[in-house]
Amino acid sequence: MHEKKNEITRVDKMKIAVIGTGYVGLIQSVGLAKIGFDVFGIDIDENKIKMLNSGKIPIWEKDVEELLKKYNGKNLKFTTDFNAIKECDAVFICVGTPQSDDGTADLKYLFSAVESVKPYLKKNAVVVIKSTVPVGTNRKVKELLKECKCDVVSNPEFLKEGSAIKDFFNTDRIVLGFEDKTKHEARDRLMNIYEYFYNKKTKFIITNWESAELIKYASNSFLAVKISFMNELSHLCNCIGADITEVAKGMGCDKRIGEHFLNAGLGYGGSCFPKDVNALMKQFCQNDMEAKIITAADNVNSELPDVFFNRVSKRLKNLEGKNIACLGVAFKPNTDDLRDSRAVELKHKFLNKKANIKCFDYVGGAMDNAEKIFGDKIKICKTVNETVEGADAIIIATEYDEFNDEDWEYIAELVNEKLIFDGRNILDEKKVKKHGFEYYGVGR
Ligand code: UGA
Repeated sequence: MHEKKNEITRVDKMKIAVIGTGYVGLIQSVGLAKIGFDVFGIDIDENKIKMLNSGKIPIWEKDVEELLKKYNGKNLKFTTDFNAIKECDAVFICVGTPQSDDGTADLKYLFSAVESVKPYLKKNAVVVIKSTVPVGTNRKVKELLKECKCDVVSNPEFLKEGSAIKDFFNTDRIVLGFEDKTKHEARDRLMNIYEYFYNKKTKFIITNWESAELIKYASNSFLAVKISFMNELSHLCNCIGADITEVAKGMGCDKRIGEHFLNAGLGYGGSCFPKDVNALMKQFCQNDMEAKIITAADNVNSELPDVFFNRVSKRLKNLEGKNIACLGVAFKPNTDDLRDSRAVELKHKFLNKKANIKCFDYVGGAMDNAEKIFGDKIKICKTVNETVEGADAIIIATEYDEFNDEDWEYIAELVNEKLIFDGRNILDEKKVKKHGFEYYGVGR
C-alpha cells in the first residue's frame, strides 16, 4: 500500500533517536541524517560513542564512514546520554537480538533498551522496533510502555552487510506494523520519516504488529530455504554430470523463481540467517507445530562444511603438514564480520587435522578478526600471492569476484600443487584450468 504525500499530517523539524550503534542502528542513524533529520545515535558503550565522535566506525562497511564524517556534529550526534530522547518524536530501537542457548531470540538487550528509554519519552513519541524480534514482542513492548502515551511500531530491517547503505536508500519495501493500522497518529509519523522513499520503487506494507514481525523471519528463512534447496541439488549434480551453476541460471530466468540466492557452495552463515532460521523454528515449536521445511533447510546447511572438507581430504589423502591456502575469511564479501563464517569453520577443521593454514581476505578488518580467533595457529597474509606460495591446495571460502582478477598464470608458478577447491563456485573454471589447475567446484 503506497500512501500519498498529501494524506499525511506533516511533523516539521522532526528529531529522531536511534538506540544502538551496531550495523542496523548505525546505518539507520547516518541514513536518516542524510535524508535531513536531526538524529541522536545513542549507545551505552562509551568506547563506541567516542570512536564515532572521532569520525571512525566500529565495523567495516563501505560508505558509512564518509556519511558519518559529513553529518557528524551537524544534524547527527552520538551520545551515551539518554536525555537526548526527551526532544525526540521517534525513537528507533536497533539493538541486537542474538540467539540464546535454546535457539530462541534473546530479548534481554531489547527489553533493557525499552526500559532505558521509558523515563525520557516525550508525550506522543513513537517507539519503533527495528530489531529482529519474534512474533508477540511489539505487544510486550507496548505493555512495558503502557504508562507512557506513546505508540509502538514494528519496522523490521532488511539491509545486507557489505551493501548496507545502498540497501538503505534503495530498499524494496518498508514494512510498518501497527497496533491499529487505522489510527493515524503513528502512521503519519512513520510515513513522514520515510517520505524520501515515495518517489522510488519502494513498496510500503502497512499491517499489524504480528504480520510485520513475521515478514522479517519469513523473508530470511525463505532465502535460507532457497540456498539449501540449491545446495541439496548440487549433491545430485555431482553424481549425474549436471552443473548447478547452469541449473541455477536456467531456473533464475523464471521471474516466479528469481535469479538471486540460488548460489550453491558452502551454505549460509553470518549473524542473521542461522539465528533467524532457528528462532522461527522455535516459534513453530512454541505453537506445538514443527517447521518441517525450515528444519530441513537448516539440516542441509549444517552438513555442508563437512561435505566440502571430506572432498578435500579425500583428494589430498593425508592433511597433516599439508599447506592449505584459504582465500576468504568473512562469512561474505565486503565485511569484516566472522560470525558463523563457513571460512572460519573450515579453518578449524583443517587445523584439527594438523594442516598448515595461510589465509587472506580483501577486508583488512576481517583478517584482524581472524587473528583474534586463531592467533599464531594460522598465517595471515597481505596478498593472494603470499597466501598461495607453496600451497598444496587452494580453498575459496568467501564469494569474492575479485579472485578472478588475480594473476592465475603467476599463481600456478607459486603453488606446490595446482589444486583448487572452490567452495563458492566463483572462479572462472576455464581460465584456471588453462593454467593447469585441477579445479573442483560445488555441484559442477
Ligand atoms: C541477510 C538478509 O539478506 C538481509 O535482507 C537481512 O536484513 C539480514 O540478513 C538481517 O537479518 O539483518 P546478510 O546476513 O548480511 O543479510 O547476508 P546475505 O547477503 O543475505 O548472505 C547470507 C549468507 O548466505 C552468506 O553466508 C552468503 O554467503 C550465503 N549465500 C547467499 C549463499 O550461500 N548463496 C546465495 O545464493 C546467497
